[in-house]
Amino acid sequence: EILEILLKGLRRLEYRGYDSAGVGIDGGNGKEWESNAKSIQLIKQRGKVKALDEEIHKQQDIDLDVDFDVHLGIAHTRWATHGVPSPVNSHPQRSDKNNEFIVIHNGIVTNYKDLRKFLESKGYDYESETDTESIAKLVKYMYDNRESDDISFATLVERVTQQLEGAFALVFKSVHYPGEAVGTRRGSPLLIGVRSDHKLSSDHIPVLYRSCKWKISNFLKVIISNLSLYDKKSCSALPRTDQDTCLFPVDEKAVEYYFASDASAVIEHTNQVIFLEDDDVAAVTEGRLSIHRIKRTAGDYPARAIQTLQMELQQIMKGNYSSFMQKEIFEQPESVVNTMRGRVNFDNNTVTLGGLKDHIKEIQRCRRLILIACGTSYHAGVATRQVLEELTELPVMVELASDFLDRNTPVFRDDVCFFISQSGETADSLMALRYCKERGALTVGITNTVGSSISRETDCGVHINAGPEVGVASTKAYTSQFVALIMFALLMCDDRISMQPRRREIIQGLRVLPDLIKEVLSLDDEIQKLATELYQQKSVLIMGRGYHYATCLEGALKIKEITYMHSEGILAGELKHGPLALVDKLMPVIMIIMRDHTYIKCQNALQQVVARQGRPIVICDKDDYETIRNSSRTIKVPHCVDCLQGILSVIPLQLLSFHLAVLRGYDVNHIPQNIELKVIL
Ligand code: F6R
Repeated sequence: EILEILLKGLRRLEYRGYDSAGVGIDGGNGKEWESNAKSIQLIKQRGKVKALDEEIHKQQDIDLDVDFDVHLGIAHTRWATHGVPSPVNSHPQRSDKNNEFIVIHNGIVTNYKDLRKFLESKGYDYESETDTESIAKLVKYMYDNRESDDISFATLVERVTQQLEGAFALVFKSVHYPGEAVGTRRGSPLLIGVRSDHKLSSDHIPVLYRSCKWKISNFLKVIISNLSLYDKKSCSALPRTDQDTCLFPVDEKAVEYYFASDASAVIEHTNQVIFLEDDDVAAVTEGRLSIHRIKRTAGDYPARAIQTLQMELQQIMKGNYSSFMQKEIFEQPESVVNTMRGRVNFDNNTVTLGGLKDHIKEIQRCRRLILIACGTSYHAGVATRQVLEELTELPVMVELASDFLDRNTPVFRDDVCFFISQSGETADSLMALRYCKERGALTVGITNTVGSSISRETDCGVHINAGPEVGVASTKAYTSQFVALIMFALLMCDDRISMQPRRREIIQGLRVLPDLIKEVLSLDDEIQKLATELYQQKSVLIMGRGYHYATCLEGALKIKEITYMHSEGILAGELKHGPLALVDKLMPVIMIIMRDHTYIKCQNALQQVVARQGRPIVICDKDDYETIRNSSRTIKVPHCVDCLQGILSVIPLQLLSFHLAVLRGYDVNHIPQNIELKVIL
C-alpha cells in the first residue's frame, strides 16, 4: 500500500518535471518487520514514474518471494540540476553500498564539491555526480563519528544541515533508525500531511528550540586546509534529543504521515497539512511526530498549525491557469529566485557560480565573448550584451546559431563561446558548439536542462534552474537566462574596485526583482483589456532601443509565434531609415520608453511616431509623468536598475501575446486531462 501511495504521489508531482525517479523502502523477503526494516531496498529508473512502476513490478514478478514489507518509504522524481538523468544520479541517494542512510533532496547544495573533497579524503566512495550524494555521506559520517549510541536521527540531521549551503528540502531514512523518517528544509518547500481516522486532538504542534551548540565550526576551513575534521570532544555539549523532544499528541489509533514538497502529492489522502518552515527538523518515530527548530529568530512563532486545505487536486497542479504558458509567466517571481538561489549573496554583494569556478580566470583573460543561440535564447543574449560589455570590458558578439554557421565565422582559441538554450538540444546551437570546440575555444553552456547535449558537451556552464518549461513559447526561461548572464557579468568583475558601486547597485536590483515582477504581473487585467482592443488587428509594431531592443524582438516573436499575427520588433534608432513608413493612424504601435541613457532619444522617436498620426501604447516607468502626459495610452511598470529593466518590460508583452492568442481562438498549450501526453508533446 505504501509503495502504491508513493508511486501515486510521484505521478502527481510529475507535472513539475521529471527525468528519473526512485524509491527507497524497507527491504526484505517477507521476513518480520523488525529484521527486514534493517535493510533498505532502492529501486531507481531513468524516465517517467511509469518506468519506475514497471521496474518495481518486474522485480516482484521475477522473484515471487519478494514481498515488499513496507512500513516507511521515501520517493523522488527528479529534474536534474547536477549530473545527467540516470538511475545512479536519481534519488534516493545513499551513504554507501549497504544503503545505511538514504536521502531525497529538492534544491541545490552549493558547497557540495567541498563536502565531497572532504568526505573522499575520509574514505567515502562516491558513485554519482549529484550534490545530494554528499548529504547522504555526511549523515553517515556524523553517525560513524557519533559520541554516543543513543544519538537520535533528528540530531544527526541537524548536524548535517549545519554544514550545508544552498537550498534544500530533505527527507532521510536509515537502517539504523527503522520505522523513522526525518525531514528538514531551508529555502525549498516541505509539508507534512497528517491522516487520522480520529479527530486530531490538537490543531497546533508546539515547536521546541534546540540551541545546537555542536558545531563543526571550522568545518569548511578544515576542508580547505585538509586537516582532520572531527574532534569527538567538541560534541559533548550537544543537548540530548530525548530530553527535549516534543510529541504530536495523537491517540493510539492509526495515524499516517506524509512528507511532501507539494500538496498535490498528498491531497487525495488527507487535506490536513503542516507547512514546515526553514530550519525546522521534523521526525516521525513510531507513529509520533516531533518538530524542532535549529535556530530561533526574532518573531518566531513557536508552533506549527495543522491547516485544512480546501483545494482540489487539479487546482493545485495548474493553479488558476488555463495553460502552461500562462502558468510559467506567473511563475517568474519564483523562477528568477531559483536561478539566483545559493549564488547571489545580497548581504555581502557576492556571486558564486560553481559551474564556472574552475574556468573564470581563463574567461577573464579571453579575447572576446561570443553568445550563440536561437530564438528567445538569442534575445537573452541581445538583452544582456550591453551590461556584459560594461562589466567585462571585453568585446561581446551575439550570434544567431544558424547565421553564425552559415558565415563560417572565424573563431579563435582564446575566444569564449556561450551557448544559451532552454532545452540544451537545439540543433543549430549544438552544431555551433561543436564548430567552436573544433577551433579550440572555451565553451560555456547556459541551459535549463541538466544532462542535455549542450550541458554535456560544453566545458563548463550555468544551469538556469528555472524548472521545466512545458509551454511551447519560452517565457520564464528567458528571464532566467537574463539573470544567469547578469550573474556571470557580476562574477567577471568581482575583484575590480572601480566596478564595486555598479556591482552593488545591480545586486541590490536583483534582490528586489521578484517583488517587482509580481507588481508587473498585477497588470494582467489591464493587459487583457488591451488585448481585447487589439486582437482583430493584422499587425503590431514594437519599438524601443538600448536595453529594450531585445524586449521588442522578444515581444514580437511571442506575438508571431502564438497569435499568428504579424509583429515586428524595431530598433527605434532605425525608424527614420525606413520603418517609419509603416506608421499611420491605423497601425498598432507599442513603444518602450524607460528612464535610462536612451530616454531623450526614445522621446524623439515617440514624437516621430505621433507626427505620423500614430497613437502608440507606451510601456514606461510608472513615475515618468512626462511620458504618461504625452502618450494616449501607457502600461506603467515599476522602476529598477537600468540593465535589469528589460526583465520588467518584457512581461507585459508575454501577457499580451497570451491574451491575444486566447482571444483569437488559439489553444495556448491548453493543459489536457492527461498531463503526461502534454509533456511528451
Ligand atoms: C520562442 C521559442 C524559441 C526557442 C528557440 C531556442 O518562444 O521558444 O524561439 O527559444 O527554439 O530554443 P532553446 O532555447 O531550447 O535552444
